[in-house]
Amino acid sequence: MPDGPYGDAIRRGSNIFTRTGLHVKDHVGNQLSCDNCHLDAGRRANAAPMWAAYGAYPAFRATTGSVSTLEDRIAACFTYSMNAPGSVSGKAPAPGSQVYRDLVTYMAWLANGAPAGERLRGAGYPRISKPSDGYDLNRGRVVFRQNCAQCHGVDGQGSRDGQGHTTFPPLWGRGSYNWGAGMAQVDMAAAFIKANMPFGRPGSLTDQQAWDVAAYIDSHERPKDPRQNGTVAQAARKDHAGEDSFYGTTLRGHLLGIGVGAGGAVEPG
Ligand code: HEC
Ligand code: HEC
Repeated sequence: MPDGPYGDAIRRGSNIFTRTGLHVKDHVGNQLSCDNCHLDAGRRANAAPMWAAYGAYPAFRATTGSVSTLEDRIAACFTYSMNAPGSVSGKAPAPGSQVYRDLVTYMAWLANGAPAGERLRGAGYPRISKPSDGYDLNRGRVVFRQNCAQCHGVDGQGSRDGQGHTTFPPLWGRGSYNWGAGMAQVDMAAAFIKANMPFGRPGSLTDQQAWDVAAYIDSHERPKDPRQNGTVAQAARKDHAGEDSFYGTTLRGHLLGIGVGAGGAVEPG
């Protein structure tokens, strides 16, 4: 890592990336850090690495219907994946904030020498096609108990050390990503899981198991989608149409999407 101000900025960005709640706590409403999903401090191929993201923006995004800058893309992960607290203390950092500058400096350093303007091999989470008979929550629960619960807990809540730092991140409930996150969509979670989980044994699940367990974790209640102003049914039509997600469906007698902390209890696994 270089000395001087450049090195200082890289280190600030790296710290934000790996200890997000500690360094930018006003913009984090859950127990996650960026590197819980972008593994190995944003360096691992097929875990949406930051060296691949850096040169890939500005780019058109179907979710917003417009071109996103890298800053916009990071803001989206703050808003949904980090559940930035909209009504409590802050939302995603404001445009032009130092938080983005530090993160982008870190990404630029990781991307040193990588070509810009194209999608690099290892970018994103490689999509896996949907099995012909779809996915099944009961099978998913079995996959979860056998391959995931030892780290993430039978209740999906993960664990924290004595300082409150996340050792194993929660997969649903109050401390997890919200309903607007990419990871709340079954196809995206299946892609992430296939390439990256169980931690230390990536690629060991079949595609069917990855889809089943992705559906299982994403069939649990989590923080509300911050875009939802009216009813869940309205938000389902406006923001979740065509998605592979459980948003707005009723399972185990519970309307998914109401959100935890707003009368939506975390149901048992
Ligand atoms: C709950 C998981 C999760 C967390 C936490 C998370 N992200 Fe993401 N991020 C995603 C997903 C899912 C994508 C989309 C990947 C894809 O399309 O293949 C993504 C994409 C990105 C991209 C674009 C990558 C590309 O190649 O286009 C950037 C940049 C990014 N995230 C930055 C961040 C930053 C910075 C943080 C922390 C402030 C963060 N993310 C936290 C899940 C997460
Ligand atoms: C050996 C422990 C271990 C096992 C087993 C494991 N994980 Fe993980 N998982 C982790 C760790 C650690 C992270 C965070 C990665 C990091 O910070 O480097 C993580 C991150 C995740 C994330 C993204 C962050 C979040 O909380 O949303 C998901 C989703 C996930 N795991 C799902 C699964 C699923 C599904 C299984 C079973 C197929 C599984 N994991 C098995 C340790 C484990």
